[in-house]
Amino acid sequence: MIFKSKLPDTGLSIFAVMTSLANQYNALNLSQGFPNFNPTDELVELVNYYMKHGNNQYAPMPGVPSLRNEISKKINLVYGGNYNSENEITITAGATQALFTAITTFINKDDEVIIFEPAYDSYIPSIKFVGGKAISVRLEEKDFSIPWNLVHEKINDKTKMIILNSPHNPTGAIIGEDDLSELIKIAKENDILILSDEVYEHIIFDNRKHFSLTEVEALKSNSIIVSSFGKTYHTTGWKLGYIASSNEITNEFRKVHQFNVFAVNTPIQLAYAEYLSKNNDYLVLPNFYQKKRDLFASELEGSNFKLRECYGTYFQLLDYSNISDEKDIDFTKRLITDFGIATIPLSPFYTKEIDSKLIRVCFAKTDDVLIEGAKRLKSVN
Ligand SMILES: Cc1ncc(COP(=O)(O)O)c(C=O)c1O
Repeated sequence: MIFKSKLPDTGLSIFAVMTSLANQYNALNLSQGFPNFNPTDELVELVNYYMKHGNNQYAPMPGVPSLRNEISKKINLVYGGNYNSENEITITAGATQALFTAITTFINKDDEVIIFEPAYDSYIPSIKFVGGKAISVRLEEKDFSIPWNLVHEKINDKTKMIILNSPHNPTGAIIGEDDLSELIKIAKENDILILSDEVYEHIIFDNRKHFSLTEVEALKSNSIIVSSFGKTYHTTGWKLGYIASSNEITNEFRKVHQFNVFAVNTPIQLAYAEYLSKNNDYLVLPNFYQKKRDLFASELEGSNFKLRECYGTYFQLLDYSNISDEKDIDFTKRLITDFGIATIPLSPFYTKEIDSKLIRVCFAKTDDVLIEGAKRLKSVN
């Protein structure tokens, strides 16, 4: 059949490529970003309970009220933000659908969207899908901070959105208070919508603070905050997330959301609602993942890899410039075929060619896997 592709440049993602190669060589998989351990029994039993008790039909389009209510309370408790559960919070099929719906709702043909590279892989295709233009700004090489002078240079009448991601995948960088001030200034002066991807909001280390846009009242009418239960509750396969935004933005978002998915998984929404009402285990998540980050780092001591700073997320960047001059894709393939370990090269997170000599490792793994992974990496020289 003859058809015109809307995404002619989009191929198989690097995650799929690396996982398939890892399976072929039976390699240890530290490439894809998900835990190899289960959520709590209590959460699983709650899903089971709601399924067994007949909660198996469509949920209300914006999400189950009790869950929206719990999210509203949690945002207020953790960040002090005020989001009305009725008309300012919407449950989505993971953060991916939230991002896609937000971008396709608010971006029109020829609109420009500023993204920061390295960038999570769903942003650019979603922008292109509606005929928008992704304008890339590279994060600073030394610390992956945002070069605001370059952002100012890129802004013009066509700029409609900035996509922010903190804590940041793949670098582990986080934004600070100064970034928020810049953001407020830019968004207000130019009437730009900020799409804030905060899926790793609770995975942040060394007593640092996550600056959520939900705490910035001045930006409420200019922002959409996206989060995902998958990262916080070790349930990436359940694909449940949400957005928090002003009533006006939410109304427009829901117009598309209702024909994009209509509503998402009922029993899981009910289970999270009850779980959130009884537990605040997101508070122990920083410590839980910090121990894993530190274990992996200490097991790698004496290796030829240099570790970059990791302030948040469950990703650690490793610099292999002391080991090889190979391109990162070739190097990561060789790690699989010769050393039995799968990681992710950094260059696919950029639109233009980059000589990064950096690879990304996911440390959301049980300690035995982290120890074995570090051992295999240590043998690379
Ligand atoms: C930065 C970022 N945003 C969004 C997502 C997607 O989240 P979800 O699985 O809830 O769709 C991910 C998942 O890896 C991510 O790393």
